Amino acid sequence: MNTLIGQDLETAAQFLKEGALVAIPTETVYGLAANAFNVEAVAKIFEAKNRPSFDPLIVHTHSIEEVEKFTLNFPEKAKKLAKKFWPGSLTILLPKNQLIPDLVTAGLNTVAVRIPNHPLTIELLKNLEFPLAAPSANPFGYISPTTALHVEAQLEGKVGYIIDGGYCRVGIESTIIEIKDNKTIIYRLGGISVETIKNEIGEIEEIRNSSSNPKASGMLASHYAPSKPIVLGNIDTMLENHDAQKTGILAFRTPQQGIPESHQVVLSKSGDFAEAAQHLFAGMRYLDGLDIDVILTELLPEEGLGRAINDRLRRASTTKL
Ligand code: TXA
Ligand code: MG
Repeated sequence: MNTLIGQDLETAAQFLKEGALVAIPTETVYGLAANAFNVEAVAKIFEAKNRPSFDPLIVHTHSIEEVEKFTLNFPEKAKKLAKKFWPGSLTILLPKNQLIPDLVTAGLNTVAVRIPNHPLTIELLKNLEFPLAAPSANPFGYISPTTALHVEAQLEGKVGYIIDGGYCRVGIESTIIEIKDNKTIIYRLGGISVETIKNEIGEIEEIRNSSSNPKASGMLASHYAPSKPIVLGNIDTMLENHDAQKTGILAFRTPQQGIPESHQVVLSKSGDFAEAAQHLFAGMRYLDGLDIDVILTELLPEEGLGRAINDRLRRASTTKL
C-alpha cells in the first residue's frame, strides 16, 4: 500500500469508509484509526501495530450525544468530567452496547472513549457516520508518535492516509479513568493531571497505574521503549561510568557539561511540565536515532504532569526507580 500524507479530509474519510486505516492527529499523540463499528477494519489496526488482541482500543468521537449511541450509561460524575475536559486528554471507560465489536474492547464490557482536541480530527469525525477506534500510531511497545513524520517512519505502507496535523500539543497520551460505584479509578496517568481531576470531582479512590496489573496496556512494564537502553538515575553520577561521546542525555531542565550538545535533549529549561511532556517522545526518538550506546535520564518532581512523564520514563527505562 502506498501511504499518502496531507490534510485532505475527504480522502481520509473515503479510506475509513472503505475499511482502511488512517493516522489521525490528536492533541496527545497520533492515533491509528479505523471504523470502530467494523470488525474487519479494526482487525487491521492490530495487524499493522503488531498489537496483541488482548489489548483494547480507545474509541474517538466528537460529541457526548454520539457517545450515548454506543454506551449503556454515563454516570453523573463521569459526565461532569466529560463536560469539563472534552474535547481533551481524558479517556473514560463506559459500559458498551452491541454496536462496539468485542475486538475493540478485547472482550471487556467497558469501552474507552474520548473526544480528542484537534480541529482536523474533530472535523473528520463530524463527517463520518461512525466513531474511530484508534490506539497510538506506533508499533506495539515503541514510542508514541507526535508528528506525521514519526508515523510515516514506522507505519509506511501499513496505513492508507496520514493526516498531517502538525506537532502534538500535549505530547503524552490521555489520562484513563473509570467511575465505578461512584468511585474514581485512574488506569493510566496522562495529559490531564491527577490534581486537575481531583479539583473537579474531589476524591480519587484508586490509581492503578501499575505494571503488575496490565488492564490497560500502557501498563505493561516495558512500554514506550526505544531500541537504545535508557537508564534512569542521577545523570551526574551515572556519567562517571560512561563514555561521553557514546552517551545521550534526556534531561529535565539542565544540560550537562562535557557532552556534545547534539547528544542532549533538555525537556524544559524553565522547568515547565507541559513543555516537558510536549518534547518527551520526540526527544526519546531523536536520541534513539544517534550513534550512541546508552541514554541517561532523570525523574521529574512527582507532581502534576511530572507524574505522567515519570511513568513513561520508568516504562521506557531498563532500570527500575
Ligand atoms: O491519548 C491517547 O489516549 C491516544 C490517542 C490516539 O487518543 N491513544 C492511546 O491509545 O494512547 P493506546 O491504545 O496506545 O492506549 C490505550 C490504552 C491501552 O493501555 C488500553 O489497554 C487501554 O487504553 N484501554 C482501552 N480500553 C480499555 C478498557 N475497556 N479497560 C481498560 N483499559 C482500556
Ligand atoms: Mg500506545
